[in-house]
Amino acid sequence: MDSNRFISTSISEKEKYEGTVAWQSPSNIALIKYWGKFGVQMPKNPSLSFALSEAHSKTSIAFQSKKSSTAKHHFLFEGKENPAFEKKVIRFIEDLDAIFPFLKQLDLEIASENSFPHSAGIASSASSMSALALCLCSIEQHLIGNLQDENEFFTKASYVARLGSGSACRSVYQGFSVWGEFSELIESSNAYAVPFTFEVHPLFLQLRDSILIVSDKEKKVSSRAGHALMHGHPYAEARIAQSKQNLSWLAAALQQGDTDRFIEVVENEALSLHALMMSSKPWYSLLHPNTLIILDKIRDFREKSGLFICFTLDAGPNVHVLYSTDDEQEVKSFIEKELIEYCVNQNIIHDKMGDGPKRIV
Ligand code: PMV
Repeated sequence: MDSNRFISTSISEKEKYEGTVAWQSPSNIALIKYWGKFGVQMPKNPSLSFALSEAHSKTSIAFQSKKSSTAKHHFLFEGKENPAFEKKVIRFIEDLDAIFPFLKQLDLEIASENSFPHSAGIASSASSMSALALCLCSIEQHLIGNLQDENEFFTKASYVARLGSGSACRSVYQGFSVWGEFSELIESSNAYAVPFTFEVHPLFLQLRDSILIVSDKEKKVSSRAGHALMHGHPYAEARIAQSKQNLSWLAAALQQGDTDRFIEVVENEALSLHALMMSSKPWYSLLHPNTLIILDKIRDFREKSGLFICFTLDAGPNVHVLYSTDDEQEVKSFIEKELIEYCVNQNIIHDKMGDGPKRIV
């Protein structure tokens, strides 16, 4: 990749600039998991996810030419000061100096909120970092006049989101997207995500994802630490090969409407992710006993009912139950009868595949 491709320019010091931009951007759930990185947030293996609908972040940035010699950047989370989040966001923006040189010429008021409670056990970095990246690209488009081409705009937004949180780069598209080099998709890249451009069978275009909140506690081991444990992991090479094979199978299944292959690959990916954690040195597990009970019950219900239903897991104990909109009633009644008792405070977030990010202002 041409490393200058995403570098912007400064703005005139003489003119006065002012404006506001805002984006809503979704969280995403990976079916092929990114686990392990190299260099500057590059993935060791390709991943594939789909954008959610209900779980999203809204971020706005009000900008104006700086009033003093140093630009002031301020951040509010859900309308309130949040020093920990502010530090993270400001640092991220400072690190983008080379890509957006005009940012140090502007005072920024950044405000962000999530559609889901912070304690829901859902990672918010994908939606929040992608919303922030989209806002920064809209400011560039407004001030510099470039990024007019839609493809270039979203590619840069994905590139910038990746620097904030790897999986965030897949949140700038609707439907399925792929991040990381994948030989069957020539436009794929380690530097940004691209839409999954193959024609997807209608069965998979109306996927539902009911997120069973098994625990809402902060994770014992962060994803950052988990990725780092893939360096020198005894199964690292095998994992890279496995993810490529699984992605190839899943890409074919998505096109052919092959639900059996979809289930086999998606559940294998979820359990492989956790197996990698358990076989790291030092080992750790993010699973909860209730997670395993739920997985067994989903398999039993699938065998009995013959419905298209399966699970995936993120880096945590919560279970994402995937099924088709056609079977919504039956699956929701199964969840109510057999799974809800294993959720903390009976907490479930019923989500589905979404339309991707939206510009609000
Ligand atoms: O983007 P990060 O650094 O939070 O890593 C996320 C990794 C997984 O959520 C476990 C898998 C994925 O591909 O989203």
